Amino acid sequence: MVEDSKLEQLEQKIDEQPLDVQGFESPRMLMEMIPEDLVPLLDLAHRPVISASQFSREQLIQLCRLAARFETEPQRMNRPLTGKILISAFYEPSTRTRLSFESAWHRLGGDIMSITDPATTGIAKGESLQDIGEMLNNYGDLVVLRESDARAVYDMLDTLRIPIVNGGNGTDEHPTQAMADIYTILKAHPALALADEIPDEQLIHIGIIGVPAHMRTIRSLLIFLSQFASGIAKVSIISEQEQPFADGQREELEQAGLTIEVTTDLDAILPRLDVVYINTIAWVDDDYQEYGKTFCLSVDSPLKPGSMVMHPLARGAELDTSLDNTPFNWYFAQARGAVFIRMALLSAILKSYS
Ligand code: CP
Repeated sequence: MVEDSKLEQLEQKIDEQPLDVQGFESPRMLMEMIPEDLVPLLDLAHRPVISASQFSREQLIQLCRLAARFETEPQRMNRPLTGKILISAFYEPSTRTRLSFESAWHRLGGDIMSITDPATTGIAKGESLQDIGEMLNNYGDLVVLRESDARAVYDMLDTLRIPIVNGGNGTDEHPTQAMADIYTILKAHPALALADEIPDEQLIHIGIIGVPAHMRTIRSLLIFLSQFASGIAKVSIISEQEQPFADGQREELEQAGLTIEVTTDLDAILPRLDVVYINTIAWVDDDYQEYGKTFCLSVDSPLKPGSMVMHPLARGAELDTSLDNTPFNWYFAQARGAVFIRMALLSAILKSYS
């Protein structure tokens, strides 16, 4: 028998639950604004996904449109991946990437085989990734791989004849996280997806708290942002590192059209930012390193009204929970949208548009 006081506490907790997070209404608007054109997606059919640099602006926009359709009209899905098997190989910890890929595959009707510990595979006996790749050709229809060794996804390409999707390779890239990031940004700023020239006063200013040289999510996101450079006034990197960029990385992004500045003064720049992206973790070898521990966002930060805070998660002290129930919280919408953008990508790779 539950005590009355406990029941009261429970009811109070339920009443306090936020009913919504940012981004629930916006997929429909995005879907209606972008004319459907599946032609750019045809080039993704049966292709591996290793780097953000493989994608064109048109492909990203159409993937976001398809994701918005999945998010807005789940009742229209007809399980096009029935009978197909996903091999979900995560040799490094993951909450969102593995579960959102698996959720996406399930929602599309497919079945899943999951590896969450390399010690349970031939790797523990010294088997090469090339040989494992050769075996996987017989067992499934697509592989998602997360590996701390940046080269692993390339090694598997040697023998895989089924598509592989990079679910995060060391400090190199995390292209599907960056897709979820772009999907989130387009929901809030759909004008970025339009071909029309955007007036100067509507260009957005994006701040990224992190280290592009070491963080795979940020490396991939910057590559995608360069596809939308015409709608972005500036990207400010907020970092204490003397060299936050890898050799040639900044120059490549600037050549692609981004205007970039580096600063250490978070509070001075926050009131000017339309999008604030924060991350402190970089996975290196078998452990993670933290950068920029002095930077912290909370409800007391001088955020611009109407701006959005994003984080690939998992979060630490840098993103205070006091922001969770505020309109700045787009990080939960970002994690939610990851399911739909991954559904869109998987549909494009397997050429199964439902
Ligand atoms: N964003 C992200 O990659 O989260 P996980 O490490 O939980 O997959």
